[in-house]
Amino acid sequence: MTRLPAPLTLSCPAGSGAVRTYGAHVMSWAPTGFDPVLWVSSRAKDSVGEAIRGGVPICFPWFGPGRSGDLKPAHGFARITEWKLADRTSDNDGAAATARFILTHEDINPQLRSVFPHPFRAAYTVAAGAELSMSLTVTNTGPTAFEFEEALHTYLSVGDSRRISIEGLDGARYFDKVTQQQQEQAGPIAITDETDRVYYSDGTVQVKDPAMGRTLTVAKEGSDNTVVWNPWTEKSKAMGDFADDEWQSMVCVETANVLDNAVRLDAGESHTMTQILSVSLNSLLR
Ligand code: BG6
Repeated sequence: MTRLPAPLTLSCPAGSGAVRTYGAHVMSWAPTGFDPVLWVSSRAKDSVGEAIRGGVPICFPWFGPGRSGDLKPAHGFARITEWKLADRTSDNDGAAATARFILTHEDINPQLRSVFPHPFRAAYTVAAGAELSMSLTVTNTGPTAFEFEEALHTYLSVGDSRRISIEGLDGARYFDKVTQQQQEQAGPIAITDETDRVYYSDGTVQVKDPAMGRTLTVAKEGSDNTVVWNPWTEKSKAMGDFADDEWQSMVCVETANVLDNAVRLDAGESHTMTQILSVSLNSLLR
């Protein structure tokens, strides 16, 4: 088992975070003076070849088991592959500290690459300050078109998932992965059971968290799906890298293009998907 090297720190007066070259995985972030916004499991794995339970895994070039339903590893190879650090900057004005990572088909283990035999270049820019901005650009560097799925699988830290209200998806159609049914959202989302839903929405979502007295905002561009996931009790117990009661302190709100919103790129084309997180204290919202 090869342990992962320590993450890189992204720090500036407005906020700070940490990101790994492994998976280009954002591990933490908070604006200065705020509690951590990202959740990481106390049982998260820390070794090469394993996915990290928490922070912001990048799902690419497929989501879950992919549209055929049988692809491995789950959520694609990007989150378990070493990305190249292209550059790092720190803004002296204190607005943001950034890092940019690159992944191409040549960086992928040949066995994993055979499932997605397309030349590509992925560039991922993380900017940590008062907001956390994460932007993934995929370019088709080969001669023929391909399709891919993608998600920024953000684990948010909440005081009590049973008390949160997820707003911004009222009226949106969704595929419920638990019941395998198409549904339509009515009002805000409350977590009252295992929740695993792919929403068809390009809008901003807010997570109102009365237990922590704050609201997390997930804004996005270039994304037509939002995935909401909380494993609840039984699924938590079944996951080796998740403590039994940790479902109470997290919720995933994922910025994605999946299922029939998979992205098609012709030769030479690029597509960018961005997620921007911010946080405000409820006392300041009144
Ligand atoms: C979510 C999926 O995005 O990720 C769920 O919708 C899945 O179905 C969850 O269980 C966690 O996936 P993984 O591969 O990190 O255990």
